[in-house]
Parts: sequence; structure tokens; C-alpha cells
Amino acid sequence: MSDERWRECAKSREALLRMTVSDRDVRVLRPRRAAPADAVRQTRAEVNLAALRANLRMLRRYTEGAAVWAVLKADGYGHGAPAVARTLERAGVNGFCVALFEEGVELRDAGIRAPILVMGGYYGGVHREMALRGMVPVVYDLAQVSQFARLVRSGVIDGPVRVHLKVDTGMARLGVTMTDLPQIVTAIEQCKEVHVEGLMSHFASADLVDCTDTERQLAVFEEARLLLKRGGIDPALCHVANSAGVLRRMGNMDAVRPGIALFGVSPFSPAREGVPGPEFQQAIRVRTEVIAVREVCAGERVGYGGSYTTNRPSRIATVAMGYADGLPRLLSNRGDMLVRGHRAPIVGAVSMDMTMLDVTAISGVAVRDEVVVLGGQDGDLGHDFISAAEIAAHAGTIAYEVLTSISRRVPRFYREP
Ligand SMILES: Cc1ncc(COP(=O)(O)O)c(C=O)c1O
Repeated sequence: MSDERWRECAKSREALLRMTVSDRDVRVLRPRRAAPADAVRQTRAEVNLAALRANLRMLRRYTEGAAVWAVLKADGYGHGAPAVARTLERAGVNGFCVALFEEGVELRDAGIRAPILVMGGYYGGVHREMALRGMVPVVYDLAQVSQFARLVRSGVIDGPVRVHLKVDTGMARLGVTMTDLPQIVTAIEQCKEVHVEGLMSHFASADLVDCTDTERQLAVFEEARLLLKRGGIDPALCHVANSAGVLRRMGNMDAVRPGIALFGVSPFSPAREGVPGPEFQQAIRVRTEVIAVREVCAGERVGYGGSYTTNRPSRIATVAMGYADGLPRLLSNRGDMLVRGHRAPIVGAVSMDMTMLDVTAISGVAVRDEVVVLGGQDGDLGHDFISAAEIAAHAGTIAYEVLTSISRRVPRFYREP
């Protein structure tokens, strides 16, 4: 890279990290992820933007007219939040939900104009910046409400501040409990500085076959809604449904908050039949390449700790993806990757930057051959597909973790379609 190009990059990075908000500077430090422009390595994630749009259209068939607020926390479930948000905003999504203020800033910096709900509940000292950037906070205790009210009264922020009130309907994670709700309703009723635009909760078990807990949560939510109504508070937006709720048509209210289904990945464990069906398209594909191939005798040990021993003369291919790229180390000696459209088993321990495959059964594998870690591959030997759920099952985790673990050193490339 030329000196001049280095200076340009440094300047734009500095500009990104330093956001001027009115007369005060807020610094948000963000880890920088490898960007396609810098990419030298052959390991990359490809995100199909057309698949995102198709998944949104498909979800709308289930939402019964509810507004769709796409959940793009954790960098859009690992797909790259800015590009995903731009695509979904153009496709008519009604709003976005993030966990952190910083994630909201990233979307605003990317030019996103749709409403952004910040669900994490921690606003440090950035209440004013939240308001200026048009981000809507979720609140769930009196202290949060009083702090916003105080800032309005002292003229730091303009009021009334729009908030979404979160109630805990049975997950015991975040949200005002039904016991504390009457007190917070009374306080809000008397507080003209805060406007409850939304009432929300979150399902704990909508992905389970048994709906009993979800039905119970919906009943508690209804109680909460009535309690607010009796207190003179009538939020315009009630929302509880995540992807599983939407797909089961449970909790479709004024708005819904799907995340994983937008990326074409099922919120359900494989045990549950049906939805989302083949009509949803996994938007991400992670590919790498073979960087070495060696012939190994029977009885030789492969990789760290020699955890795999060949039981026949074997051909072992080394591929350029390891646990530092987000491939779970728990895939050591478990699971497959695709080469030439055919499955090749992972052998030996997954190491930081590399993984070994047994390609004995696939003739002609050579250095620079494409290897698909996640997603589909059409090769001269056929077509196959590795889903996030398959990797999750091998690693004893869930597809959400597989997606959000793809690390920042794997550059994301976007394609249409
Ligand atoms: C509060 C909240 N709403 C909605 C979602 C979206 O869930 P899903 O990705 O299962 O659709 C999440 C994700 O965990 C969440 O925490």
C-alpha cells in the first residue's frame, strides 16, 4: 500500500472512531474487522443480500400485518450490520433493534434512518447522544425512568423522551416484574417527561415444541398491557415475538422482532419439524481453500496432540480456517467441510488458523481448491450443504453462536444475488 493510501485509511479510521455529537465528542471504540478491500486471505464470508430480502418477504407472510423490527445485534448476527440494515431498510423493514448504543451508532453512521430500539438497557452517560441520534431506549426500572426525566427537566435533552417499557413475563432475564409494574406505571403516569411508545417482552421458549410457557407469557403480557391501560398509558407499539414466535404465529402484535430467521436460519432445534421450511435461504456462506495436501501412511497421527490416527493410507488436506476465525474447536474430529461438492470429514484438532480434512475419498484434491465450511457448494462431484444448525449440533451449541462467532478477521463480501 502506498504511503498516501496508508494516510487516507488512517484518516478515515480516525473519522469513524471520533463522532462529533453537537458540542460534545463521544468516542466509541470498535474493533476493526477485516474489510474486503484489505482482504488478502482466501477465507471469507459471502453474504447474499437477495436472500435477506427473500427471507424478509417470507417472514411477512407470517406476521399478519405487524411491523417488522429486524434484530441486528452482534453485528447483524455476524453478517455485518451496516450492509444488512441498508438492504433491509430499502426492502421496507419498519425498524431495527440492537443490544448496544454502539451498535445503534454504527447503523446511524451507515446512513440508516429507520427507528432504532436499543434493548440492552445500559446507557452509561450517552442519554443525550441517544436522543440526538434518534435511538429509542428500552427501560425496565424506575431509576432509568427518573434519569431520563431528570435530564429533560434540566434541559439536557428535549422531552418527552420516547421509551419502550420492557416487562418480564416469565424469562427472568430483563424487564420489570409484574410485582414492580404497578409502581413504575404510577411513576410514569405522573412523569410528563417520558412517553411510553412501546410495551415489550421476550419469549423464553417459543422455539420449543411445547407452547405452554409461551402461552403463559402471552397471558402475563396481556395483564401488563391492561395494567398500563388502567394507569392511562396506551403504548402504540406492543411487541414480543422473536423469529420462533412469528413463525408459530404466537405474539404477532403491533410489531415483531425477528432476528435469526431473517438470515435464513431456523430458530428451532432440528427436533422440531417444519418451520422455517426450505423457503428460507441461509444468507451466509463461509469458504476457504486448501493450502496443503499430504499423503500419510496408515497409523500416523494428525494435528495437535495426535488426536486422530489414520487407519489406512490417507490423503490429508490442510485448510485455512481455524478457531480464531470462529470455527468451533469442538469440531475437532467431528463434522465435515465440502470440497468439490463432496463432504470431507474434519480430522485431528482444529487449530488456531488451520484445520485438516481427510480427502482420501475425493480424488484430485489440490492446493487452492475451494472448501466450504458453512453453506452450499456445487462441485464436479455434486452438491451439498452445511447448515449453521449442523455445525452447532457437532459443537454442542446453537446456530446463533455459530453465526456470531465468525470472527472479525474473516472479511465479509456482499453479493446480489
Ligand atoms: C429481546 C430480543 N428480541 C428479539 C430477539 C430475536 O430473536 P431471534 O433471533 O430468535 O428471532 C432477541 C435475540 O436474542 C432478543 O434478545
